Amino acid sequence: MIKLHDKFFKPFIPAKQIDEVMQRLATEIANDVGDEIPIFIGILNGSFMVVSDFVKKYPKPCEVTFIKLASYEGVKSTEDIQRLIGLTQDLTGRTVIILEDIIDTGNTLAEVHRIFKNENVKSLKIATLFYKPEAYKKDFKLHYVGIEIPNKFIVGYGLDYDGLGRNLPEVYQIKQTQHMTNLVLFGPPGAGKGTQAEFLKEKYNLVHISTGDVFRFNIKNETALGMLAKSFIDKGELVPDQVTIDMLNAEVEKNADANGFIFDGFPRTNAQAESLDKLMTSKDSQINAMIALEVDDEILVERLLGRGKTSGRADDANESIIRNRITEYYNKTAILKEYYSAQDKYFGVDGVGSIEDITERLSAVIDKL
Ligand code: IMP
Ligand code: MG
Repeated sequence: MIKLHDKFFKPFIPAKQIDEVMQRLATEIANDVGDEIPIFIGILNGSFMVVSDFVKKYPKPCEVTFIKLASYEGVKSTEDIQRLIGLTQDLTGRTVIILEDIIDTGNTLAEVHRIFKNENVKSLKIATLFYKPEAYKKDFKLHYVGIEIPNKFIVGYGLDYDGLGRNLPEVYQIKQTQHMTNLVLFGPPGAGKGTQAEFLKEKYNLVHISTGDVFRFNIKNETALGMLAKSFIDKGELVPDQVTIDMLNAEVEKNADANGFIFDGFPRTNAQAESLDKLMTSKDSQINAMIALEVDDEILVERLLGRGKTSGRADDANESIIRNRITEYYNKTAILKEYYSAQDKYFGVDGVGSIEDITERLSAVIDKL
């Protein structure tokens, strides 16, 4: 992973693959051109690497020149018409091949066609290393395409993000989510998870995703996923993991700019932990830690009985029910402790003490991630 200015990028296309593609393009074009001596025209700035590597692989005589477009700024292809400058040579009757680093919307290509309209060239062909079919809005023919790529911003091998990255010999793709710290918060009933999640959320600017809240939100607002979940609940069935994951996915996407997430109430099984890993991977991210608040059973019972006196929650009033819930928790979470321990991501934190002390202990873990 690399960082340019404020953005993170992940490796996408290695130098070796680019080299093979350049070789293929050079061979293909040389075959098509036959005995003509073509003029290869690069569009600066981005195409300098493409042109340089291409002509070294071109097996026959050729001419090389460049024209320049006002430089590309920022992440989105700009809509303003930019003009190409620097075409000084007489190209009458010549075979011209444009060498582009990337074709995105096709605006640059429209400009190329505009300036060549009156040049009386014998033929004008377009070759590009990268092509984003989903972004392309024109219908000019692309004669030679190196690699089709998804409509995501890339850097390297001549391509830049706000000036940086052109010198990289390989190509990187922008990360879907930027740098995140994602936590799974665990703890037996009465451990103080809710309280601590509130503090951590503030302190680290994380988004707290409580599966219970997400369910209630989706059902209350009658979202498609909420209605689907409800149909299972109404039949007395468990909501399938995929439905829950889809809801979490929506939450993560809603907050793609977040510093990270605190997952609370999910995962509860190995299969769910795996699904969550897949979800985070698909967002170019990961779960960094499972943090479990550890509190002695007797203290939990005491705390919950105390809470039951004031809250009136039936499940907090009865000692044997409380003990059952605690046992249940340990039975279920033992598997998850193993799952995350195997990845060195399990952190047990002493959950007995003042709220501030416990927040301190949790912070010590998070700060080291
Ligand atoms: P188009 O005019 O929209 O086809 O875009 C062409 C120009 O936009 C390229 O020559 C690049 O300078 C720039 N561009 C488009 N996509 C990217 C990208 O993913 N990374 C870096 N520059 C890009
Ligand atoms: Mg360019």
